[in-house]
Amino acid sequence: MPNLYRLIRPLVFCLDAERAHNLAFWAGGLAQRFPLSDPKLEPNLAVAAFGLRFSSPLGLAAGLDKGAQLLPLWKAMGFGHVEIGTVTPRPQPGNPRPRLFRLPSEGIILNRMGFNSEGAEVVAARLQQRPSGLIVGGNLGKNKDTPEENALADYTAAYRLIAPEVDYIALNVSSPNTPGLRNLQTPKALKPLLSGMLDLRKELGLEAQPLLLKLAPDLALEELDAITEVAVSSGISGLIATNTTLDQSIVTVKNQDKVQAWGQGGLSGRGLAAKARAVRLRLLQALKGRLPLVACGGIGSAEAVAEALKDGAVLAQLYTALIFEGPELVGRINQELRHSMRTEPSRPVF
Ligand SMILES: Cc1cc2nc3c(=O)[nH]c(=O)nc-3n(C[C@H](O)[C@H](O)[C@H](O)COP(=O)(O)O)c2cc1C
Repeated sequence: MPNLYRLIRPLVFCLDAERAHNLAFWAGGLAQRFPLSDPKLEPNLAVAAFGLRFSSPLGLAAGLDKGAQLLPLWKAMGFGHVEIGTVTPRPQPGNPRPRLFRLPSEGIILNRMGFNSEGAEVVAARLQQRPSGLIVGGNLGKNKDTPEENALADYTAAYRLIAPEVDYIALNVSSPNTPGLRNLQTPKALKPLLSGMLDLRKELGLEAQPLLLKLAPDLALEELDAITEVAVSSGISGLIATNTTLDQSIVTVKNQDKVQAWGQGGLSGRGLAAKARAVRLRLLQALKGRLPLVACGGIGSAEAVAEALKDGAVLAQLYTALIFEGPELVGRINQELRHSMRTEPSRPVF
């Protein structure tokens, strides 16, 4: 079958990146009005993690479907889970445009979206129509105008609305596009944030619902060790590593001027893979199996997913590769994983 996305990609990439995104969402919304076929998944692709059953180890990372608008479509593509959000408690427009840029020759995206969000109330209402058979995570953040010291109040406000509608929650303290957000990763700020969220989880009777923490790739190795200890002793359920990077050296030298001219933002995609892997290996080493970890950052093939699982991650997520490769990528990865799992006797037991 011809790869339709490959054919139309040059046209799509002529458009400004955010226009192309909006067009794709419009088309996706239309496609969803028709009955979508279920993805052909084999049971041996299923993964158990955090007490949940995922039909595939591959999930869609946060930031693409911030408002939970295309869940049936992601399910039909073959994703085992989708992380919606980041959702902020109150609606906010995000940063001024342009705020999304593509570097196709390197499979890299720079974004400074800044948590454009319809707000937790609207997204929670939409989640009531969510399809069955797809694990949905809710990624939460704080509003831009909320001072850092009041961050907990924002996370709790969003949690109250979103948590009852999803299977797991991810606390995003690692986006580079909300000033001060990454400071919440320091042990001093992280401890009260995590214990506050766990108290709320208990208050709402959601103790069984996994609560994950999503980290940046720009932390020093010692910081990763310290964060690991805080995370383990807090009693949260796991980590997601990583978010986008501020490190422009992941771009090849010949394109660095171009990327610099785009201005501030987080980089994702192929060039992030090595950095994200180094972070996850350090975290896995520090965790010593005490908490599960979800791998993210520069993953774009079955080999990369298999490598992440072999490293010790329980699941893998991607975003940027989908923009460059198109929807067929998901089925292709699932199919190749299925083959490798069939032929690989030392497949990790989930
Ligand atoms: C345009 C864009 C928007 C993003 N928005 C969010 C977000 O709202 N919340 C979040 O936790 N991560 C967000 N991310 C980060 C991704 O979830 C992911 O962690 C990162 O892009 C690395 O994975 P990738 O290389 O597969 O894209 C965003 C990424 C991109 C490219």
